[in-house]
Amino acid sequence: MTDADIERVRESFAHLHRRKGETAALFYARLFEIDPEIRPLFKGDIAAQGVKLMEMLTVAIATLRDPGGLTALLNKLGREHRGYGVEERHYDSVGSALIWTLRTSLGPAFMPEIERAWTALYRDIAGTMIAAGRNA
Ligand code: HEM
Repeated sequence: MTDADIERVRESFAHLHRRKGETAALFYARLFEIDPEIRPLFKGDIAAQGVKLMEMLTVAIATLRDPGGLTALLNKLGREHRGYGVEERHYDSVGSALIWTLRTSLGPAFMPEIERAWTALYRDIAGTMIAAGRNA
């Protein structure tokens, strides 16, 4: 990701973060609609899960200029996800639901270059987690 991409992701996320409960609810509703088999993998409270997801994205964005620290965290998360029963194909559903949520929440402010920056970030995060899961 370029420096400009990092700025785009940061700014758009700051908007969502102010409405994080609502954003997380929108994300999970969309995810379970496009991929219902994912729903039973979540054993806990979805609202609490939404907070974790938003926190994780906050950490990912905060450490964008520190790839080493982020990779260690994502490796651990990727291994844990294998344990939750997450399959590699589920990462595509999560990526689609995430981009849809950003587009729905941000509206016209979600410009093509912002979408490209988020897609690149998600691809990096998911790629690292998937690779760690394979070696678990
Ligand atoms: C970039 C992608 C993802 C990120 C950043 C992420 C983030 C997280 C975080 C931070 C947790 C909490 C871990 C903890 O409490 O220690 C979690 C749990 C979980 N995630 Fe993800 N996740 C991602 C992708 C996925 C995908 C693709 C699935 C597909 C089904 C998934 C399903 C779950 C489940 C089932 C749990 C455990 C929930 C429970 O305890 O009931 N995640 N995730």
